[in-house]
Amino acid sequence: MNKDIICVYYSRTGKTKQAMAEIADALDCELVRVRDKVERRGAIGWMRCGLDAMRKRTRPINRLVTEQPLSDYKLVILGTPIWAGRCSSVMRGLLKRRGYEMNEVAYVITHGSEALYKDVYGQMDRYLLKPHVADVSLRPGSAGYHFWRDQFIKTCADFVGGGHEENGEA
Ligand SMILES: Cc1cc2nc3c(=O)[nH]c(=O)nc-3n(C[C@H](O)[C@H](O)[C@H](O)COP(=O)(O)O)c2cc1C
Repeated sequence: MNKDIICVYYSRTGKTKQAMAEIADALDCELVRVRDKVERRGAIGWMRCGLDAMRKRTRPINRLVTEQPLSDYKLVILGTPIWAGRCSSVMRGLLKRRGYEMNEVAYVITHGSEALYKDVYGQMDRYLLKPHVADVSLRPGSAGYHFWRDQFIKTCADFVGGGHEENGEA
C-alpha cells in the first residue's frame, strides 16, 4: 500500500466513486468517501444539490476516517462530480473545513456533458494553502475516459515518486 497518497471522493450516483476506485487501485492507495448529513437522493435531493452548488452553500461533513492525519499524505487526490458548473457542495465543504491540512492536492472531476469545467480547479484552489498539482476532467463512458484517467494516474505516480529521486533513493 502506498502511504504517500490518499483518494478522497464524494459521489451521489456512483460515477465518481467508480473513477476514484480505479485510480486508487492503480496507485495502490487508500480510498475514502466523504459525505454530509443531507438527504441528496431523488428529485428533491437533486434540486438541493443544484441549489447548494449554485449558492456555494456547504453543510457539516461526516467525520473522515483515514489511516493517517491528512497532513501526513504527500498527495491528496480529491474526486467530485460537477454540479451546476461547480464542484459539489459536499467536496466544497471538505475543502473549506480541511483543505488547509492538505500538503499537495490533485483533482478528479466527473461530469455528464462534454465541457471540461477547467475553471472549477481555480474555485477549489481557493481553500488550499497552495495551488493543486494535477487534475483530470472525466466524462464517464466517453471515448477519452481511459486515456485521460491513465495519464492522470501516471502524473500522480511520478509526482510522489519524484520525491524519492531527489533524496537519492531512486
Ligand atoms: C445537481 C446536479 C447538477 C449537475 N450539473 C452538471 C453540470 O453543470 N454539468 C455537467 O456536465 N454535469 C452535471 N451534472 C451531472 C454530474 O456531474 C455527473 O453525472 C457526474 O458524473 C455524477 O457523478 P456521481 O455519480 O459521482 O454523483 C449534475 C448532476 C447533479 C446531481
